[in-house]
Amino acid sequence: MEILKNRILKDAEIVSAQYLKVDTFLNNQIDPSLIEEIASEFTARFSDTSFNKILTIESSGIAPAVMTGLKLGIPVVFAKKNEPSAIIKDAYTEMVHLWTKKCDYKISVPSKFIKKGERILIIDDFLANGSVSHALISITEQGGSRVGGVGIVIEKGFQDGGKILREMGYRVESLVIIENLENKKINFRE
Ligand code: G4P
Repeated sequence: MEILKNRILKDAEIVSAQYLKVDTFLNNQIDPSLIEEIASEFTARFSDTSFNKILTIESSGIAPAVMTGLKLGIPVVFAKKNEPSAIIKDAYTEMVHLWTKKCDYKISVPSKFIKKGERILIIDDFLANGSVSHALISITEQGGSRVGGVGIVIEKGFQDGGKILREMGYRVESLVIIENLENKKINFRE
């Protein structure tokens, strides 16, 4: 997706060989017109499949998920990040290991939002090691729904998440894949 690649090249900051800061348009300040382009691209790529619902996670997944939900005309549900001690009633939960912050936390979705037999589109901003995607897939399947696709804004191809999900048979559509961040340069996979 050229417009997204160009924006990353223009505005993203390479923090380390593993971490790219995109807080000026995706993670903290949000560019609505770019999010709309992102949603149009997800809509086009998944146009061969019908979905009942989008599932994402707070906070940075919400903007691209909502805009995509608007275009597809389907509701958007987001998983909340709960303290492990929080009392969660009637919810599907899963643990996530966050390599960026080197911690584990629990995510949850009220069970009333995941209905048996539905087809779910998972949307998230980043795919690194895939722990969030696996947790969202687990929550979907706990509720008897099926994952029909995983839409990712930025996949980091030098971490294993995308490779593992594709090997497991999930359809992963990443709008850009970063091959590496070596020599302080953003190299995209063609
Ligand atoms: P994984 O799910 O693929 O294993 O990756 P990871 O543990 O890294 O993902 C969890 C968090 O790390 C997510 O945000 C994700 O957006 C973020 N993340 C991973 N790699 C990068 C990166 O290179 N740049 C940026 N900007 N973010 C990255 P989060 O901590 O849950 O924050 P938020 O959604 O509340 O903004």
